[in-house]
Amino acid sequence: MTIAIGCDHAGFELKKEIISLLDDLHIECIDYGTEGPQSVDYPDFGEKVSEAVSSGKLDKGILICGTGIGMSIVANKFPNVRASLCNELFTAKMSRLHNDANILVLGGRIVGKDLAKEIVRIWVSTNFEGERHCARLKKITLIEDRLKKHGF
Ligand code: RB5
Repeated sequence: MTIAIGCDHAGFELKKEIISLLDDLHIECIDYGTEGPQSVDYPDFGEKVSEAVSSGKLDKGILICGTGIGMSIVANKFPNVRASLCNELFTAKMSRLHNDANILVLGGRIVGKDLAKEIVRIWVSTNFEGERHCARLKKITLIEDRLKKHGF
């Protein structure tokens, strides 16, 4: 598994912690920025990570902004992306089991680093349950296809 990771200034400190956790877990990650605490616009970094996942270039992504809301909005614009804002453990687990979420979004101003690390641990180690959930994901793909073809 290779994970694309990105953040804005509000997620920068937490991103460093998550990168070091992924390193401990021997999970490869590619850092799409931002590279410092200076104020930036979250769509610029959300776009890079979402594109990598949407195109199939990388398996999964992690995005961090202040609340996680902005990054979620950006990421879910991309076809094939199922981004889930998970600021607690249960949602993190369910987002993999039922939704096969391929981008985890965290709120850097909401979760502390220890909880965030636990969320990431659970998220990367939980597999999609498949079965009845496959048909539901297929319906999401059909919506994407329809919108691509006909617009609203
Ligand atoms: C930046 O101040 C903040 O708006 C951003 O990190 C994020 O929370 C947006 O949803």
